[in-house]
Amino acid sequence: MIKVAPSILSADFGNLQRDVEAICSAGCDLVHVDVMDGHFVPNLTIGPVVVSCVAKCATKPLDIHLMVKNNTFFVELFASLKPKYISFHIEEEKHPHRLIQKIRSYGIKPAIVLNPHTPPEAIEFLLKDLDMVLLMSVNPGFGGQSFIDTVIEKASRLNDIRNKINPDCLIEVDGGVNDKNIQSLKDVGVDVVVSGSYIFKHASKQEAIKSLQI
Ligand code: DX5
Ligand code: ZN
Repeated sequence: MIKVAPSILSADFGNLQRDVEAICSAGCDLVHVDVMDGHFVPNLTIGPVVVSCVAKCATKPLDIHLMVKNNTFFVELFASLKPKYISFHIEEEKHPHRLIQKIRSYGIKPAIVLNPHTPPEAIEFLLKDLDMVLLMSVNPGFGGQSFIDTVIEKASRLNDIRNKINPDCLIEVDGGVNDKNIQSLKDVGVDVVVSGSYIFKHASKQEAIKSLQI
């Protein structure tokens, strides 16, 4: 069954504890936290002070998605919060192999993110050291954008590569995911989906999450 990681970027930040508790009791599998620095992407979100409050009230593990220029600095900043995953963008990292080892040294599962234009082959020689690869199905920076459907072919190619090199490595897709495109993601081997606006705008978070756990 596909695992669901609601993105708290679409939560009401004035009622963040309420919304984090709501998605956890609605049956999500992970809590997706988008960290943006205003440099790698043209938006700015939250740092360790706020994320530590999220970690305290979340009853599901955290999936931290870094959209930042200085990955190592941010990994060090968030490591003590013990998220399950930290993912960083391959487009912004000169030494991804080194950073993977650093994330793992904290007991955190390392993941790499690919922007819509980056081919899956870019991480082929890192796959055996990764726990997850995150494919962006929107341009990073904002919630509520529409799904870029070339991610389907990309996920399918990545699925073939990971089945050969590291079948335990999960494939996650982030952005514009809803009940209309979930089956096409399942069909090409996607294991985890991130969904923000679809879940938070739905009348029932529980129903929305269930509709993606297929
Ligand atoms: C975009 C973020 C996503 C986004 C998903 O940069 O990485 O996690 O919040 O939100 P929706 O589902 O609304 O596209
Ligand atoms: Zn994200």
